[in-house]
Amino acid sequence: MSISIPVNSAFTKDEIAKFRVETTGTRNVIHLNNAGSGLMPDVVTQAQVDHIHLESQIGGYEAAALNADIIMGFYEQCGILLNTKARNIAFTSSATDAYTRALSSIPFESGDVILTDRDDFVSNQIQFLSLKKRLGVQIVHIANEVNGGVDPGDLKDKLYKHRPKLLSITHIPTNSGLVQPVGEVGKIYHEYLQHDYEKTWYILDACQSAGQMKLDVQNLHCDFMSFSCRKFLRGPRGTGALFISDRALQGGLEPMFIDMRGAEWKEKDRYDQQPDAKRFEDWDFAYSTVLGTKSAIEYCSAIGEEKIWQQVKLLSGITRQRLKEMDRVHTMDRGPELAVLVTFHVEGSDPVYIVQELLRRKINGQ
Ligand SMILES: Cc1ncc(COP(=O)(O)O)c(C=O)c1O
Repeated sequence: MSISIPVNSAFTKDEIAKFRVETTGTRNVIHLNNAGSGLMPDVVTQAQVDHIHLESQIGGYEAAALNADIIMGFYEQCGILLNTKARNIAFTSSATDAYTRALSSIPFESGDVILTDRDDFVSNQIQFLSLKKRLGVQIVHIANEVNGGVDPGDLKDKLYKHRPKLLSITHIPTNSGLVQPVGEVGKIYHEYLQHDYEKTWYILDACQSAGQMKLDVQNLHCDFMSFSCRKFLRGPRGTGALFISDRALQGGLEPMFIDMRGAEWKEKDRYDQQPDAKRFEDWDFAYSTVLGTKSAIEYCSAIGEEKIWQQVKLLSGITRQRLKEMDRVHTMDRGPELAVLVTFHVEGSDPVYIVQELLRRKINGQ
């Protein structure tokens, strides 16, 4: 296949050709469905296959013991990715799993406020409603700016007014290219915490941003960050991760259903929490997926998140422009900054039909 690259491409023709060779799925499909699940590089597939094979040969627990050092590499690599330590990372089975572990650790009481944005992920909002039904929490939404994205002034007002138990922001929503101004959100939150508002916790849902751009938890000032590893990180399905800050660990937060990995049962009536992020994990994992995820993070880091971000913005910008030039097609993305999720609407056409027609042409979309 001959490759043409746009002006200002972050990668040379040869680099792109190499990436394509390293991901054999690119021979079969044009994969535009990274917001659903990315196409895994072959090294990611191989890491899983090798471990499953080892399990079949010597036993599951024995294979995990033999590969213990490589498995630890997942935590180290993920720590490097987010600019934190391995001890602040928990492996989970999805972004939702990561998010609910964090959410369940917050000691909500009746009347507590959850402050959130208007473009938050649907499952997060359902969970808030469930907490409202069970515990009587209140849900308050931050206003948007005229051009989309949270209004920092309104965020500040509502933080100081409501002193919420939880601030929850989705970095890049599922259904649009919007990128929330999380740098500014983090600054406002950090300053607010200096005023002794010890009871507020901040979860950042970075499900769609991990792998698209550099995420530095030291600058983002979140207490928790959740994401899945199958999307822009291009890891396997069934994988996610949760960053837990030292503030949350030292504050004693623990998931509601902590298990024997997260805690040690010391006496009949007492257990001790693990001091690190293991507190948020369960005993059993599909270790092949942990190893696949480690490989995917290494692959992403070797390319460099800054370059990836430059390229995804370039390509999505070109895609939006070309769509706009087409008859009856309207792009829907609004916000101060746009990421790679391109959303469009074709007048008089059913979205299911469009997805099916794309599939018939071996183009994966959603
Ligand atoms: C913004 C956002 N948050 C969370 C999720 C949930 O991710 P998972 O399916 O890994 O639970 C998604 C899924 O698309 C998402 O787009």
